[in-house]
Amino acid sequence: MNILVVGGGGREHALVWKLRQSPRVDKLYCAPGNAGMREQAELVDIAAGEIDKLADFAAREGIDLTLVGPEQPLVAGIADRFEERGLKVFGPSREAARLEGSKAFAKELMLENGIPTAACEVFSDLDEARRYVAQDRPCAVKADGLAAGKGVILCPGRAEAEAALDDIMARRVFGAAGDQVVIEELLVGEEASFMALMDGDDFLPLATAQDHKRIFDGDEGPNTGGMGAYSPAPVVDAAVHDAVVEQVLKPLAAGLKRRGLVYRGVLYAGLMITEDGPKVLEFNARFGDPECQPIMMRLESDLPSLLLATAEGRLREMEAEWTDRAAVCVVLASGGYPGEYGTGMEIEGLEALDSWNNGYAFHAGTKREGGRWLTAGGRVLGVTALGDTIASATREAYEGVGRINWDGMHYRRDIARRAMDRG
Ligand code: AMP
Ligand code: GLY
Repeated sequence: MNILVVGGGGREHALVWKLRQSPRVDKLYCAPGNAGMREQAELVDIAAGEIDKLADFAAREGIDLTLVGPEQPLVAGIADRFEERGLKVFGPSREAARLEGSKAFAKELMLENGIPTAACEVFSDLDEARRYVAQDRPCAVKADGLAAGKGVILCPGRAEAEAALDDIMARRVFGAAGDQVVIEELLVGEEASFMALMDGDDFLPLATAQDHKRIFDGDEGPNTGGMGAYSPAPVVDAAVHDAVVEQVLKPLAAGLKRRGLVYRGVLYAGLMITEDGPKVLEFNARFGDPECQPIMMRLESDLPSLLLATAEGRLREMEAEWTDRAAVCVVLASGGYPGEYGTGMEIEGLEALDSWNNGYAFHAGTKREGGRWLTAGGRVLGVTALGDTIASATREAYEGVGRINWDGMHYRRDIARRAMDRG
């Protein structure tokens, strides 16, 4: 089987790493990929957004399945375009990907199907929105549309909410995403990432995970794409797991079908586990990053078989097996991220990890130049390790981290602490 992976971050490296382990995979390509995956996949010099070029490549090279990593090409309709050309693809249609692309649409679907989520109102008029926040209740103000995960401002009271509205709707700090805002009730609890494969009729939950969104220890500072993740997430106990399946996945799958929306890919539910049970914060139409890294490390089943069954609507036949061991991923980022950061710093110590038995450093933003590894992005590496317990996996991951260094390297030192605090 020949596979094309679209994207070039840590998530895609983890997927490529896992796919390469399968005896079913012949040719494996990644477009555009990154320097760290050279041993596992052939890099293709086409950007993730160049849908027609990607389709031409897939047709020409006899690709049996294309796996789309990031959300932008999905929201732009890559799955529809591939299917029009008779090319098999793992990823939801453009209409279904609006679950991620439009927060207002996601809310509408949740309400329509009784899926638990924060109470909310949608506004496209600044004055109306201002009158609403005058109630002075804790809320979250969100710019609609994609704002690279940054379009959310948590507001304890009226003053903060008014400032957030001015930023988003008047000053347009998130651009056109500020045409419309969603104002939500502020939820209190612990977050978890819950992913499931969906094929239009059935779904198959994947192992649970927890992300660390803020840049600094103790969940301080601005939001990022994710600074680390671990799997499994003990906050998702058996009761919470059942609640997610019954109250979120079943009604969502049925609701998508009722609307005639084709969802063949992975659905990511960002959850807040509140005193009243799980509530959905957001849906994503793709694997979470970095969550995908520890999850791929724990997967024992054949990944291409699962992906192909999803794309062909045969999930009912499938099961996914996971090791009982825990996996922890620590993201190493460039100094300054998620704000401005420099690139081209020399990374020391990556070779020392070649002989590492308990983990692997997934590349997110690196490049190779004259025999040296250089930084080339905000999130640079995802150092991921397995252990018998969360504590031992964490120890192991930080041992890997300890071998790597570059000028300005930044990482959180408290990844998985919440899971360990639970005992
Ligand atoms: P979103 O992009 O909507 O998932 O929001 C990004 C982050 O903001 C989430 O991961 C939460 O940490 C936080 N957040 C969003 N909405 C709420 C809410 N209603 N209550 C509390 N925290 C929230
Ligand atoms: N780590 C969060 C996300 O992928 O959206």
